[in-house]
Amino acid sequence: MTLAFDALRNYLSRTCGLALDAEKSYLAESRLQPVMQDAGLPDLNALVMHLLSGTDPNLARDVVDAMTTNETFFFRDRTPFDNFRKIVLPQLLEARRGVRRIRIWSAACSSGQEPYSIAMILDEEAERLAGWQIEILATDLSHSIIATAREGLYTQFEVQRGLPITQLLRYFQQEGDRWRIGEHLRSRIRFEKFNLLADYSDLGCFDVIFCRNVLIYFDVPTKQKVLDKMAKAIAPDGYLIMGAAETVVGLSDTFAPHDDHRSINVVRATPAFARVPLRLVAG
Ligand SMILES: C[S@@+](CC[C@H](N)C(=O)[O-])C[C@H]1O[C@@H](n2cnc3c(N)ncnc32)[C@H](O)[C@@H]1O
Repeated sequence: MTLAFDALRNYLSRTCGLALDAEKSYLAESRLQPVMQDAGLPDLNALVMHLLSGTDPNLARDVVDAMTTNETFFFRDRTPFDNFRKIVLPQLLEARRGVRRIRIWSAACSSGQEPYSIAMILDEEAERLAGWQIEILATDLSHSIIATAREGLYTQFEVQRGLPITQLLRYFQQEGDRWRIGEHLRSRIRFEKFNLLADYSDLGCFDVIFCRNVLIYFDVPTKQKVLDKMAKAIAPDGYLIMGAAETVVGLSDTFAPHDDHRSINVVRATPAFARVPLRLVAG
């Protein structure tokens, strides 16, 4: 491993949690080749020196964009979305009937297929949700991928992955050889750039967080830190929905897998003794 690659690994781990495999310097070099070319930098050494000088925010942005893996598709893994519709939504409709408001966060939304899948489900459940205020926040670290998500324009290949034809015809319009998501769905989602290592206090409290297929890129302490932050940003009866192969087991004291549906995680019940208010005894 070269010194430059080592410094790049440290930089990515520190700034965005990405844990690069020490054996995969060739992968980093090939992903960063176009960035070096655009910036007129001859090799990885020069790129890392320039990056660490901190003088070029555009370079930092392009490096992060190149090093993130944005693989995604509509209704990915299917079951978590079915569970969202059949388990989570009915329980929240009951629990929030006083406020008639639900807040959902797609916390690493990539090119938007995840939040648009959520929005399609909500649209199909429109009758039950009449008069409710439903907010969907979709965020990602990558500047370019969040722009793609916001645009909502997909290739034939992308819409063929996971999206049933009925939903394609119902929610998209064809534009040349691409498909554009309908404005009434797009306008229901707020897209923002956001780093999961950042401070969550401005985001408010969510009823459902989709955090899927992103923790796999982090090391264990970073996964734990992110789950701790999410625990503070979720309602005490909220739901954390993860990827098919992901688990909170061994990573979080706050979340536990739902008894019957493993992709849904619920906030662990507070032990009874912790709920007894502390009394101040004077004198
Ligand atoms: C493989 S995609 C998963 C997309 C979607 N959640 C899914 O399951 O299909 C992982 C996404 O996580 C984003 N990501 C990586 N590190 C991040 C960080 N520190 N903060 C926010 N997003 C991050 C990447 O940019 C990428 O778009």
